[in-house]
Amino acid sequence: MTLKLSLETPAPYLITSLEEASATASVCRACRLCETRQSVVFFDGNPCAKLMVIGEGPGQREDEIGLPFVGRAGQLLDKILACVNIDRKKDTYICNMVKCRPPGNRVPGKDEIEACRSFLEAQIEFVKPKLIVLAGSTAVQGVLQIRDPISRVRGKWFDFKNGAKVMPVFHPSFLLRNESREVGSPKWLMWQDIKEIRRALDALDN
Ligand code: URA
Repeated sequence: MTLKLSLETPAPYLITSLEEASATASVCRACRLCETRQSVVFFDGNPCAKLMVIGEGPGQREDEIGLPFVGRAGQLLDKILACVNIDRKKDTYICNMVKCRPPGNRVPGKDEIEACRSFLEAQIEFVKPKLIVLAGSTAVQGVLQIRDPISRVRGKWFDFKNGAKVMPVFHPSFLLRNESREVGSPKWLMWQDIKEIRRALDALDN
């Protein structure tokens, strides 16, 4: 399938595969984030996975290593997934709204998200995940185009393109800042959400 990308960059990109999307991203200069990046952080995991996790953007460690979610937040994400027997490398495809690190880990700007949108669209188009988890409000706003607080939408399934279902969850960095595991705390809510994601994955197999 040929995906006509909407990005108005020096040349209109015509992308026909994930590999091509990754190669195009690796030399992308469509926004200012290219000026400060060390790496273009495209994905980690399995391009055939039924579950996609979308975060905000690479942090310092991700920029150094070239893989998403490998810093402290990523280690927590791995643990959360592992609690319900989801293996990051085998069972998920992990990526971000923007592929280059915003300096100082600031929230990516709207223009930067739009400049990178074609790559995310290609990832969704070619991976064809059945379930998409949006980690944090930047991913929620960017993918679902809604501005509801994450605390109101987390744990809910939203219908998405091609029959996929999307669930917002708290960002692991937020969980790192909120230690409590009391009933109703962010960590407790995350535990409910990951169990629901596990149930939904199991239901796909039946
Ligand atoms: N936070 C994100 O949203 N993505 C990463 O890859 C790392 C931290």
